[in-house]
Amino acid sequence: MRSIILMLMLSITHTQSLSICSASCVVCSGDAVICHKLTNIIEAPVTTKALMLTDGFIVSVDHHFLSNMSNMTVLSLSHNAITTITQDAFQNLTVLRTLLLDHNQLSSQALAGTTFSWLIRLEILQLGNNVLGEVNGSWFHAMGALRTLQLEGNRITRLDNGTFASADLQGLETLDLSNNLITYLGKDCFRGLMGLRSLDLSKNQLQSAPPEAFLYLTWLSNLNLELNMWNCTCELKDLASFLTSYMETPDKVLFNRQRMTCVSVDNPAVTTVLELTETNCVSPNKNITVIVQAKNSISTQRYARDLALASVFFFSGGIGLALSVVYMVYLKARRDKPGAEELEKGRTTPTQMITHWDFNQDNLQMAQTGLETKLTLPNSNRQIKDVRSHRLG
Ligand SMILES: *[C@@H]1O[C@H](CO)[C@@H](O)[C@H](O)[C@H]1NC(C)=O
Ligand SMILES: *[C@@H]1O[C@H](CO)[C@@H](O)[C@H](O)[C@H]1NC(C)=O
Ligand SMILES: *[C@@H]1O[C@H](CO)[C@@H](O)[C@H](O)[C@H]1NC(C)=O
Ligand SMILES: *[C@@H]1O[C@H](CO)[C@@H](O)[C@H](O)[C@H]1NC(C)=O
Ligand SMILES: *[C@@H]1O[C@H](CO)[C@@H](O)[C@H](O)[C@H]1NC(C)=O
Ligand SMILES: *[C@@H]1O[C@H](CO)[C@@H](O)[C@H](O)[C@H]1NC(C)=O
Ligand SMILES: *[C@@H]1O[C@H](CO)[C@@H](O)[C@H](O)[C@H]1NC(C)=O
Repeated sequence: MRSIILMLMLSITHTQSLSICSASCVVCSGDAVICHKLTNIIEAPVTTKALMLTDGFIVSVDHHFLSNMSNMTVLSLSHNAITTITQDAFQNLTVLRTLLLDHNQLSSQALAGTTFSWLIRLEILQLGNNVLGEVNGSWFHAMGALRTLQLEGNRITRLDNGTFASADLQGLETLDLSNNLITYLGKDCFRGLMGLRSLDLSKNQLQSAPPEAFLYLTWLSNLNLELNMWNCTCELKDLASFLTSYMETPDKVLFNRQRMTCVSVDNPAVTTVLELTETNCVSPNKNITVIVQAKNSISTQRYARDLALASVFFFSGGIGLALSVVYMVYLKARRDKPGAEELEKGRTTPTQMITHWDFNQDNLQMAQTGLETKLTLPNSNRQIKDVRSHRLG
């Protein structure tokens, strides 16, 4: 963008007006031509370094006038109605650094492996707000110089393992895929983009994402995953723990992590992806098993009472709280029991007997008295509450 401003300043110093310029051109010099509301690409001086024909009605792009402007470094055709680009349209633009094609009508079919292959020095490619339904890595097969690729506001639905496989994007630093329709990320979909520093996948339809997809992006420092359709089941736990350790790394930023909100959850206490942990990622068909290891013998009645109490906390403040309550209860019980230390020291074979409550049915089952307590809670609020009222009532 700095180069564009530079060009503008340059062009203002050259005030000679050129005969080819139409009334709709705001800048017209040997270096820069800026025009609006055109229906075709116009002939500009061969010395043109920046050609910006925006906010118009251009439908197709071919090499006819472009190929003579071989010193062009900036070409903007933003906000037109472009549906076709001929394969040789950019053939002579070997020093082009910035190509802006956003806000047009480009579909995936309009682009081919050769469309951009001439642009060996291109650093910024803006393809945002078109109608691309998919990304084909072969479009970028000769783009080792590319630093920024904007694909936001398209209709991209998935990024497969092979999406960028044939791309030559090892220099890419910024990839914007926000505001698409992405529902699927392959584990290997970003392989080959090893230089990536900024990745925006916000405003898509991801229900889940494999952490492996981000693992080999070692330089990644800006990641945005907000406003997707996160389905916060246990399957997202690995992503949550990856993101947590990612955020703990210095200089790595996860944008708006509070807005990584769950669209569907198994555990109502969880509202954002990052709240998913080992203990509260409950899937509907799994029981929660809490094992409280008692290092001494405490009365079974006391355990039964305290654990029933804990199950009340469980549904007022989430599982994390319940677990700490159980732990506190255990510590208290241990303190209350005189001579516990001595007992523990003298003990050589731990965990011989197990206490096992089963809350699954409408009754509380307690298997054995012993040194270890296993509390099994099925993941259904209603059931547990029934159990509680059953007990208390
Ligand atoms: C392009 O730039 C080079 C070096 O500045 C110059 O020699 C050449 O004449 C320019 N070509 C055109 C078509 O302006
Ligand atoms: C391109 O430039 C060449 C010579 O510089 C000229 O003969 C030709 O007409 C130009 N082509 C177009 C399409 O302007
Ligand atoms: C444009 O490129 C083609 C093929 O790469 C070449 O034949 C032609 O001479 C070039 N035209 C100009 C004006 O540089
Ligand atoms: C990508 O483009 C190449 C060349 O145009 C084509 O052969 C390939 O089938 C395309 N891949 C996909 C997944 O569409
Ligand atoms: C993508 O690659 C990963 C790892 O190589 C593999 O496990 C997975 O099955 C692949 N997915 C597809 C759809 O090929
Ligand atoms: C969430 O994921 C689970 C299992 O992965 C699936 O059964 C469930 O249908 C998904 N929820 C939605 C709303 O798609
Ligand atoms: C949950 O516990 C109940 C009762 O102990 C058992 O029948 C059921 O199979 C358990 N479910 C799972 C998924 O372990």
